[in-house]
Amino acid sequence: MIIAPSLLAANFGKFASETRRAERAGARWLHLDIMDGHFVPNISFGPEVVRVLRPLTRMFLDVHLMCSRPEILLEPFAKAGADEMTVHVELHDRVTPLLWKIKSLGKKVGLALNPPTAMEQVEPYLGQIDLLLIMTVNPGFGGQPFITETLPKIQQARAWRSAKRLSYRIEVDGGINFQTAAECAHAGADTFVSGTGLFRHRDLKAALKKMQKSVSEAGRRRG
Ligand code: DX5
Ligand code: ZN
Repeated sequence: MIIAPSLLAANFGKFASETRRAERAGARWLHLDIMDGHFVPNISFGPEVVRVLRPLTRMFLDVHLMCSRPEILLEPFAKAGADEMTVHVELHDRVTPLLWKIKSLGKKVGLALNPPTAMEQVEPYLGQIDLLLIMTVNPGFGGQPFITETLPKIQQARAWRSAKRLSYRIEVDGGINFQTAAECAHAGADTFVSGTGLFRHRDLKAALKKMQKSVSEAGRRRG
């Protein structure tokens, strides 16, 4: 079980110290939300932020591209030090070349789907990815409530993974707090992105520990 604090919920004036705070708290992954003001109605930050943070941390940098034209961003983020890049399946016929490009850059390959998008859309790509990102809110903003209707998608992702003998991670993103993280773990998720659910806690270490405990227990209950 991996918990990835999302930098989107950190203090934007203090990315360096917030990154160190997450690592000191015990996080092994950091989730970076890249928004282009077109694919989603918000703008966050670009490769320069990743480049500046890279030497400060050993955390795995999980870059989520909510962008209409990720093709122009893959190389810059790879050079900046991303470990993994996730593109959205809503880009349709551009998905295959994007996944190949990420792989050719030597990075882990992620594919995301939005809440209204059916799981059948991601099925053809499952053999090519390291991570499936199931959005549990409509992307664009932190702090939104978890959409419960996404839980069956997690179960489906898990069922396909064992039926097809694949090993992609099942990541959830949006509205993840102690309670919803446990629900997702019970449904079969193993990677949990949490922004406001973690960064708003002054004691991030305790919050991470609590979330880790709640997902481990829920995962064990699932068996
Ligand atoms: C939503 C982003 C998320 C965001 C989650 O568009 O993809 O990664 O940071 O934030 P919370 O955990 O606050 O819902
Ligand atoms: Zn995200």
